[in-house]
Amino acid sequence: MRLPKRLSAIAGLVPKGSRICDVGTDHALLPVWLIVNGICETAIATDISENCLARAEETARAYGVYDKISFIRSDGLAEVNLDAWDTLVVAGMGGETIISIIECLEGVNVGKTLILQPNTKQLELSLFLRERGFEITNEIIVRDRRRNYLIEVIAN
Ligand SMILES: C[S@@+](CC[C@H](N)C(=O)[O-])C[C@H]1O[C@@H](n2cnc3c(N)ncnc32)[C@H](O)[C@@H]1O
Repeated sequence: MRLPKRLSAIAGLVPKGSRICDVGTDHALLPVWLIVNGICETAIATDISENCLARAEETARAYGVYDKISFIRSDGLAEVNLDAWDTLVVAGMGGETIISIIECLEGVNVGKTLILQPNTKQLELSLFLRERGFEITNEIIVRDRRRNYLIEVIAN
């Protein structure tokens, strides 16, 4: 399984052995790759869309890791237990959607790593993080199919 460059850059930032939660997983390429490649033992894959979650389950079955992933239909983190993950990925969405998903973590993200990749409103997200005390510990830009993507990491 080969990840697109953007997702591959995100995968490279996931700490080995982490308990990942991929919000807005769509096809679940990222969590499936992380498990297949021994970075994570298990994962949580969430999506607001029933159809996307069905696609995610198909990918996991195709790669034999269905039993290692918890599939949760959820708007952001609404249905996800905060104690069930230590590394959060929110990628491929607008910056304002990412803000709406992570604002519930303000002040409670101790011991958590957040990996955020906004497709739009990058500046708004960066300002939000700075103003709300989410300390950016790593920031990279990856070029994929003639487009630049910002990835921000907040690790506590
Ligand atoms: C463009 S896809 C990105 C998929 C993958 N994360 C990636 O980076 O390639 C965006 C996904 O986010 C989901 N999504 C959008 N808003 C969401 C929300 N509030 N909570 C959970 N998932 C959401 C969509 O259903 C879609 O599957």
